[in-house]
Amino acid sequence: MTYVVTDNCIRCKFMDCVAACPVDCFYEGENMLVIHPDECIDCGVCEPECPADAIRTADHAEGAPWVALNARYAQVWPNIAEKKEPPDDAQAWMGVPDKFTTVFSAAPAAE
Ligand code: SF4
Ligand code: F3S
Repeated sequence: MTYVVTDNCIRCKFMDCVAACPVDCFYEGENMLVIHPDECIDCGVCEPECPADAIRTADHAEGAPWVALNARYAQVWPNIAEKKEPPDDAQAWMGVPDKFTTVFSAAPAAE
């Protein structure tokens, strides 16, 4: 099993999860992070660290729909091992519904 990042992360991207992860298995898109399912050791320490409550286990009802997206983009986005500055408007995007269909970016993070 693995943990996954859900759509609540989109445009929030606080990155507290990155600072918490002992195996650096987060990957960074332009406005969302994902977890590499083969690298996550299922420790669970990232889940309570996310201010946007965006992390779930893969078998959780809120996590399962995002398993494929995490697996896909973990292969094409760059690894992120250190927390960066969140977007200026991160707080305003917390809990906004349907962020995946309206503002998700498939682009990798700018280097
Ligand atoms: Fe990293 Fe543990 Fe979270 Fe997996 S569950 S992403 S290993 S902190
Ligand atoms: Fe996203 Fe939460 Fe991490 S908003 S970047 S999953 S701390």
